Amino acid sequence: MKIGILGTGGMAAALGGAWTTAGHDVLIGGRDPRKAKLTAESVGAAGHGSLDDAARHGDAVLLAVPATVAPQLAGGLAGRTVIDCTNAISPTGDGLMLDPGSGARQLAAAAPGAHVVKAFNLCHVSIWTLRPPMFENVPLTVPYCTDHPAAAAVIETLISSIGCVPAACGGLARAGYLEATAALAIGMWWSGGQPRAAFPSPAEV
Ligand SMILES: NC(=O)c1ccc[n+]([C@@H]2O[C@H](COP(=O)([O-])OP(=O)(O)OC[C@H]3O[C@@H](n4cnc5c(N)ncnc54)[C@H](OP(=O)(O)O)[C@@H]3O)[C@@H](O)[C@H]2O)c1
Repeated sequence: MKIGILGTGGMAAALGGAWTTAGHDVLIGGRDPRKAKLTAESVGAAGHGSLDDAARHGDAVLLAVPATVAPQLAGGLAGRTVIDCTNAISPTGDGLMLDPGSGARQLAAAAPGAHVVKAFNLCHVSIWTLRPPMFENVPLTVPYCTDHPAAAAVIETLISSIGCVPAACGGLARAGYLEATAALAIGMWWSGGQPRAAFPSPAEV
């Protein structure tokens, strides 16, 4: 699959590298051409270029930029799968909080006709560098939310091809739950907690 990645930082490199290893045709685009080249070369991606180049390249487009920036880059993506991995969170006196007015639904509003899917926001960037992400011999589950069947098919392929298990978690109206879960989990990591140990299944009793 042709994947355009907007952004040249940690998530662009980790997911771009995973998809390249899986045989996808990845183009990494950034506002700084030098960083785009360095990131693409570091993970063996097929190409690099500007943000526009990456947006044009992809059947699927990953927005690997700050949550506040993503809506500004989401125009011109009609008909394509747009993957939102962003976490719009800020530290406050009461822990990490979601930024009001930010998130996948606001992104979708800024991207008319695009098929937005929320995914890959729950795990730290280091997890996406594992080939494959696997813990205690169990492949990582990757929840996603989208309103579009075509985007669901694309994201299922992209998740499966890096050795993870896709989990359909409803439409974009539920993406806020993934965003809130990330805020809670990251807050627990920062304070030394283990969110992974907080969600045992009743089947384990
Ligand atoms: N890091 C994690 O563990 C993690 C996990 C899950 C989800 N996420 C989410 O993934 C997204 C990317 O995170 P990251 O860790 O990859 O961040 P990062 O390493 O800081 O990279 C951010 C990228 O966004 C670009 N950028 C920033 N402002 C921009 C603007 N105004 N216009 C165009 N490009 C801009 C940066 O370009 P320059 O280098 O030119 O500034 C850089 O390429 C964030 O939304 C984050 O919440 C991160």
